Amino acid sequence: MTPDKLSLLRLTEMKRRGEKIVMVTAYDAPSARLADAQGIDLLLVGDSAAMVVMGHESTVPVTLDEMVMLTAAVARGSRRALVVGDLPFGSYQPSDEVAVSSAVRMVKDGGADLVKLEGSERRLSRVRAIVDAGIPVMGHIGLTPQSATKLGGYRPQGQTAGSASDLFDAALALEAAGCSALVLEAVPAVVAARITAALGVPVIGIGAGASCDGQVLVWHDLLGLTGDRVPRFVQRYADLAGEISRALGAYASDVRAGAYPQEKHTYPMSDDERRQFEALVGNK
Ligand code: KIV
Repeated sequence: MTPDKLSLLRLTEMKRRGEKIVMVTAYDAPSARLADAQGIDLLLVGDSAAMVVMGHESTVPVTLDEMVMLTAAVARGSRRALVVGDLPFGSYQPSDEVAVSSAVRMVKDGGADLVKLEGSERRLSRVRAIVDAGIPVMGHIGLTPQSATKLGGYRPQGQTAGSASDLFDAALALEAAGCSALVLEAVPAVVAARITAALGVPVIGIGAGASCDGQVLVWHDLLGLTGDRVPRFVQRYADLAGEISRALGAYASDVRAGAYPQEKHTYPMSDDERRQFEALVGNK
């Protein structure tokens, strides 16, 4: 562990002091390096990689091997930020044993500092088992994309009194089971505020309002790398898709026009070596 690495204790202290925690997803080393340099506290190697990096229609197809590879790249690129490895669909649902073995791979091979898993009551024994194995866990409730089909699509959760109270109970139960932090996705701000105030561990919101202890956004959404259809909670801070398209277009026209490469982009050869080379290949 690098000496300036953040700790979970520090995150809890930040919650207590009302200092906001910043989390962003990342999927490769250069992005992790940029985020780390900006003092981002948590880098989530989200299974959203399935959609924003791999082009799948949902988060379901990404495998544990793929997630471990991406997590290792992010861990190599970060020094201070805590790296959260998202356990993909199928890597923790079957049993506590499978969940522990997946979490161990995330930490040993992926270099994750903690792992994240989705779900509430049904996941409590998984959380306990992973925490017992010595690995910190971040829970994730509200809109849980791995079970979007069961939830009736990518829609906000906890908008009725009953479902909000279920979410509240689930948050308390996950904390009691040993979660070190919780992601709350797409729930009404008032519900998120009550849950955040009730928990001792940090609550990181995405589409859950400003009262959460911290916020997370998906890299590609934040930087304008996804299409026009983004969830209502996304704030775009750049138009990288526009900038990348402009650069690629300029590169393509330069190549086609012979404007790139120029002399300054090439490697020299002495006249003597050139003459000898001509002599060697001249008659072939
Ligand atoms: O996979 C992911 O990116 C996530 C965030 C949306 C919280 O789980």
